[in-house]
Amino acid sequence: MLRPILTFPDPFLLRKAAPVAVVDERIRDLVRDMFETMYSASGVGLAAPQIGVGKRVIVVDVSPVETEIAPMGLVNPVIVEREGMVEGTEGCLSVPGVEGIVPRAESVLVRALDPQGQPVRIRAEGLLSRALQHEIDHLDGILFIDRISAAAAPAR
Ligand code: NI
Repeated sequence: MLRPILTFPDPFLLRKAAPVAVVDERIRDLVRDMFETMYSASGVGLAAPQIGVGKRVIVVDVSPVETEIAPMGLVNPVIVEREGMVEGTEGCLSVPGVEGIVPRAESVLVRALDPQGQPVRIRAEGLLSRALQHEIDHLDGILFIDRISAAAAPAR
């Protein structure tokens, strides 16, 4: 089911999401809805708070750019290692029409549960690393516009 995407400055986007206690059919339904909603908006990632659900669930599909990487739905994702720093351009379905240059860790190791409740580890670099950091930020109420580097901020 397609869900409406909340947009900035909706205060829900600034709230911290709660961990998922049990990965059940409701969570799998949520993940399905999130993929459908993300694809219909041509995004490469979506976090549950963006559709008004305060749970720590994200979906990411960077295959339009990194064709060998399969789509992933992640529950309770946590970044357990970060390495390096790289700047790159980001946008967000919740901040339409805005792009900015955002510094992120170059590579990350993420631990999470998959939609079956099984533990997974994802070592990511490139666009996947950036997308995971962006989506996990959403779970903490952080938007990419909070992290835009000074160099990329619009002139005043
Ligand atoms: Ni976003």
